[in-house]
Amino acid sequence: MIYSKISGTGSYLPEKTLTNHDLEAMVDTNHDWIMARTGIAERHIAAEDEFTCDLAEKASRLAIEDAGVTASDIDLIIVATTTADQVFPSTACLLQERLGISGPPAFDVQAVCAGFMFALDVADKFIRTGTARCALVVGAETFSRIIDWSDRRTCILFGDGGGAVVLQANDAPGVYSTHLHSDGRHKDLLCVPSGVSRNYEAVKAGTAFTTMEGGEVFKWAVKAMSDLVEETLKANDMHKDDLDWLIPHQANVRIINAVGRRVGFDPDKVIATVGHHGNTSAASVPLALDESIRNGTIKSGQLILLEGFGGGFTWGSALVRV
Ligand code: UT7
Repeated sequence: MIYSKISGTGSYLPEKTLTNHDLEAMVDTNHDWIMARTGIAERHIAAEDEFTCDLAEKASRLAIEDAGVTASDIDLIIVATTTADQVFPSTACLLQERLGISGPPAFDVQAVCAGFMFALDVADKFIRTGTARCALVVGAETFSRIIDWSDRRTCILFGDGGGAVVLQANDAPGVYSTHLHSDGRHKDLLCVPSGVSRNYEAVKAGTAFTTMEGGEVFKWAVKAMSDLVEETLKANDMHKDDLDWLIPHQANVRIINAVGRRVGFDPDKVIATVGHHGNTSAASVPLALDESIRNGTIKSGQLILLEGFGGGFTWGSALVRV
């Protein structure tokens, strides 16, 4: 039996930070409100000439180095992003060229903030079926480009970043299981209601921005990510005490805490890095994973439940041993 296993991780945050105090000068908000409602103190914003593929490349090079492989070993590249550099080619193809790889499949997946979970699921299936042996799975976003910086309901939440893992074939899991869900009935609760094919006028006018019914999204995110914990543990005949860590989508500390409480999880075992990078959408989970491994919080051999939730709605989880 072939399984997949994460053999390396990497992440990157742009240099420029935007603090809550910076935001006070931009919209009618204040540091205390943002801290109390979101737990976010600052977010990172890509430079004008810095694009999603740049963040993906930096995170990927670190993951490749950490895995101890070379670019020529990689036989699959999947990039999860909502903010592709170009309409086409995919950001995965742009990344492939940067890394000097040619031949193996490279493609993007779009599941917004759950994107990394969808990409990991697909890569895991490639490896389990013997179609690939060494996949690069990336979540990268320049979400700041689709934020209305005069809308205090959204601009306080999001930031830019990239996270990557190398996923390799292994005799033992690795990835125990993945679980994906979508429900398009909620398409209007969190969206950018314009694009190349529809309402292109907004794109041309530079107003193709994220809109969100925050309260509704909050409730759904907590429910979906709590249910995912139950579903994932049940599928593996495990109990929450078997887990070493829970890494929920890094959207808001209150959502993270609410999920932890709802599933009765020890708060000390729930990873929250959102405070210093905000919601980086598809990058959020691999960023939190990489940071927690590199700072020694997560140790080799530990069992982690990763989960994402995003626009669509889309949501997904993976149970992994690192
Ligand atoms: O990947 C998924 C992406 N999205 C999310 O996860 C977001 C989920 N939602 C949330 O995180 C929260 O709903 C928010 C942080 C966006 C908002 O928090 P909330 O506790 O749901 O606040 P609210 O929207 O109910 O607003 C409460 C009050 C309102 O004033 P009134 O109507 O009570 O007078 C808002 O106008 O706070 C006001 N408000 C603000 N005040 C200061 C809204 N945004 C701000 C702001 N600063 N930035």
